Amino acid sequence: MTRIIVVASGKGGVGKTTVTVNLADALTDFGRSVVVVDGNITTPNVALHLGIKKTPYTLHDVLDERIPSIRNATYLHRSGIRVVPAGISIYNLGRKIKKNLGRAILDLIGAVDFIIIDSAAGLGREARASMEAANEIIIVTNPELPAVTDALKAVELAKLFNTKPLGVVVNKYSGDNFEMKPANISDFLNTPVLCVVPESKMVKLSISRRNTVVNEFPSSNVTRKFRELAAWMIGEKYEYKGKRSLISRIKSRFGGSKSGPYSR
Ligand SMILES: Nc1ncnc2c1ncn2[C@@H]1O[C@H](COP(=O)(O)OP(=O)(O)OP(=O)(O)O)[C@@H](O)[C@H]1O
Ligand SMILES: [Mg+2]
Repeated sequence: MTRIIVVASGKGGVGKTTVTVNLADALTDFGRSVVVVDGNITTPNVALHLGIKKTPYTLHDVLDERIPSIRNATYLHRSGIRVVPAGISIYNLGRKIKKNLGRAILDLIGAVDFIIIDSAAGLGREARASMEAANEIIIVTNPELPAVTDALKAVELAKLFNTKPLGVVVNKYSGDNFEMKPANISDFLNTPVLCVVPESKMVKLSISRRNTVVNEFPSSNVTRKFRELAAWMIGEKYEYKGKRSLISRIKSRFGGSKSGPYSR
């Protein structure tokens, strides 16, 4: 059965796209087939994070019924995840859409294990369309009150669409005294914290290399967090095996195998 998960937030810039692509990569490493759909229709950024450019077709072509299937707009990234980018042209802004997102992804249902939708920030039309198309929601927040307050609105909105809240990812956590603690965030949102991702320059470095952290820095703490989250989502056990040898790191950098989390 295909699980359709939306990664949403409320406040912008908290790390939705980062969580989406890294969770997708970690699930791929566990042998699951995953397609990431950029639900950020007007200001898409999945393709920017991953350096997927000059694609002949995008999600806009699916929504506009210019291509028969979303499969024609699905591209393989070197990390192993498949991606449906949204069109970045400003001519896409304000266009009337013929198909809603739920109908657009129909062709993937039954064909893949996970569809992960990277939602737009806020609670506007695009974010709502992503929540409506999904069955489950992961909320991303930073450990600050304004972000957590907006996350609460996203949790409430998801309820209106019967989208099941899986929990919260607290991202960019540094652990200093000014931040909210994960337990307080969980209480505030009345939702479990699934994962606490540290503030790390590896995230920015990976984005600058147009790659996921999971693929670029397989033995980093950030990767470990995403592997733990992915393992929990599929009910598998994951044990951190420590840092990998230099040779295996060099191998993965130059296109080593992606068969499983421990083989890289
Ligand atoms: N754990 C982290 N540590 C350090 N920097 C991070 C972390 N997660 C995300 N960032 C940085 O924060 C910025 C925003 O991240 P991202 O694009 O994933 O957020 P977003 O919620 O998808 O934003 P938007 O609302 O614009 O779609 C990026 O520049 C990224 O490098
Ligand atoms: Mg984003």
